[in-house]
Amino acid sequence: MRILLGITGGIAAYKAANLIRGLSELGHEVTVLPTENALRFIGKPTLEALSGHAIETDMYQDVAAVRHVELGQQADLILIAPATASFIARLTAGIADDLMLNAILASEAPVFLAPAMHTQMWQNPATQANLKTLESRGIRLLAPASGRLTGGDSGPGRLPETQEIIDFVLSAGKLSGKHVIVTAGGTREPIDEVRFLGNSSSGRMGIELAIAARDEGAKVTLIAANIELPIPGGIDTVSVSSVDELEAAMDQSCDVLVMAAAVSDYKLAKPHRGKLPRNQSLTLELLPTKDLIANFAVNHPEAYCVAFALVAQEDSNLLTIAEQKLWDKGVNAIVANRSSALGSKVTEVTFVTKDDQHEFSGEKSSVSVELIRQIAGKLS
Ligand SMILES: Cc1cc2nc3c(=O)[nH]c(=O)nc-3n(C[C@H](O)[C@H](O)[C@H](O)COP(=O)(O)O)c2cc1C
Repeated sequence: MRILLGITGGIAAYKAANLIRGLSELGHEVTVLPTENALRFIGKPTLEALSGHAIETDMYQDVAAVRHVELGQQADLILIAPATASFIARLTAGIADDLMLNAILASEAPVFLAPAMHTQMWQNPATQANLKTLESRGIRLLAPASGRLTGGDSGPGRLPETQEIIDFVLSAGKLSGKHVIVTAGGTREPIDEVRFLGNSSSGRMGIELAIAARDEGAKVTLIAANIELPIPGGIDTVSVSSVDELEAAMDQSCDVLVMAAAVSDYKLAKPHRGKLPRNQSLTLELLPTKDLIANFAVNHPEAYCVAFALVAQEDSNLLTIAEQKLWDKGVNAIVANRSSALGSKVTEVTFVTKDDQHEFSGEKSSVSVELIRQIAGKLS
């Protein structure tokens, strides 16, 4: 997710350094935008080194790029931490007198504020009235923690701990409180102790779906079948290899199951013990494997089940195949895609339910965001 992290000029601005690190470690792309006053409390080199990008605060630099609009429109989410009383007042009044406020006003992304200030400033009727107005406009607020403040006083006004801010921001999504299981990768059926029947699924689509579900606030379990790609934080991962292992790992209750793994349709009747010798003809007896998601849908009627249908590149019956699978498997939705998507960073999919169909194409990351939004929409 592309997060615009605004930092304003309070004593807690130095704590934003941990936020940049924490959000980046979860795989988010963090753009840091301090106010001029924030830079009195935390140095530009710290912010540049941690975010890996040059820091801009001047509205009138690189004017041709219209940076404030670009910054606002590129963001999937805006977090201001810490948010000063002064900033809160300016945002309430819509006073766009710096790059950050212009970017916020030019954005349609959800905005989260973590105010931090002295207790009397926090309790001041002006601050409280401003916060009420902001909340009524859909801006989400994390109340400050109580404790030791600058100057030795104590009371509400402290910036909450980094993890609390991250949880607050990431748990406000449409899948907040939901458990989503995503299966990914390709299963391997042993032929002997060193050889297997497998497929070329990289697991990329499943990982992107897991990330998109995590970013919508879900608790995500990724069941990873033979995946070599890195898996970002905030996702519980269970590693499996064969169809039987995948079946066992899937048998748990959840709100959503997305079956993105490429599951072998066959397994050996009797895998060879040891290593098969070469230079002799070999006949393998293959048995069909179970339809895991069809079984899961029967055993877990509480779950919204999404199956993938991989259709040959030249097959013109993609929709008919998807609709047939919807009924055959007894699932809520089918994501139909083409074999060219295997191992690729891009894809073209049709999301098919009994009620509607939607097509998405592009990078697997952005297609996954769209698919997860569709699924979240169906749950609500
Ligand atoms: C030492 C010091 C600490 C401050 N801490 C805070 C604070 O925690 N919260 C706050 O709202 N203002 C605080 N202020 C006041 C802000 O810096 C001031 O309102 C400033 O105009 C905010 O600018 P900005 O909102 O554009 O970043 C502090 C000022 C000083 C000198």
